[in-house]
Amino acid sequence: MSVEFEPVKKHIGSIVHVDRDKLLTKETAQACFDQLEARTVLVIPEAHLTDKEQLTFTDLLGDRLNFTNNVPGAATVNDVHQVTLDKKLNPAPEYVLGTFFYHMDGMTVATPPPKATLLSARTISKTGGQTEFASTLAGYAGLPDAEKAEIDDLVGVHTVLRSVSMLLDDMTEEQRSKILPGVVQRHPVVWKRKNGTRSMVLGSHADRIEGMPLAHGRAILTRLIEWCAQPAYSYSHTWKEGDLVIWDNCGAMHRVRPYSEDSGRMMHRTAIAGIETTS
Ligand SMILES: [Fe+2]
Repeated sequence: MSVEFEPVKKHIGSIVHVDRDKLLTKETAQACFDQLEARTVLVIPEAHLTDKEQLTFTDLLGDRLNFTNNVPGAATVNDVHQVTLDKKLNPAPEYVLGTFFYHMDGMTVATPPPKATLLSARTISKTGGQTEFASTLAGYAGLPDAEKAEIDDLVGVHTVLRSVSMLLDDMTEEQRSKILPGVVQRHPVVWKRKNGTRSMVLGSHADRIEGMPLAHGRAILTRLIEWCAQPAYSYSHTWKEGDLVIWDNCGAMHRVRPYSEDSGRMMHRTAIAGIETTS
């Protein structure tokens, strides 16, 4: 076996041990994909992939998600997104600031949510900048049966407005006019996935529960986020330069611990397109 997986925590995370020259192979990618379904977050320590190599590995895992060049942070290499708060490179930092809060990618757009994201550390921040993952898969499995029954038929309403609600007070009219028009999407709270597992659709974009008084719905959503974020179901990755982390966007929320805009932190992100809708 050219690739081995070492558990990080009981319910989440595996470190990938693989010879560098065996990493970019179909066999390794398939083993990683299977492991991703089971463990939600994979860490390949200090892999130091180039953009081209990261794209190659992305393509081996699934269909690459295309990033257009007109979004803030678009990199010079097609489909590699630069994640940075550096004002010279990213004139619209609100997208990155929004990632300070637990979320799942793509829940307010009308396409299947991205399957997975690959993030590699090019320059790390001296303070903050850890990426944290909260497993909605393990969180759901750990809920008492009575709570599983309570949420089984609930439908969440997800909006861009809610996803930026923590930033609104700090945004200009121009920023608001750009960011707020968004599609409202409905997702079941419990995601009954094609592979037979169940996760949940939760995060900063979840505005309310359909048909439920606002406070009641928001209280349920908040409690479920807190439940998944408890130490047993979450993992905080402290980056070293060159690390590659891959996570299953269908089984976890993620967020970054705040870091400063002059930290130099630079991450390169690629993603795999969604392969299933939430219902
Ligand atoms: Fe994200």
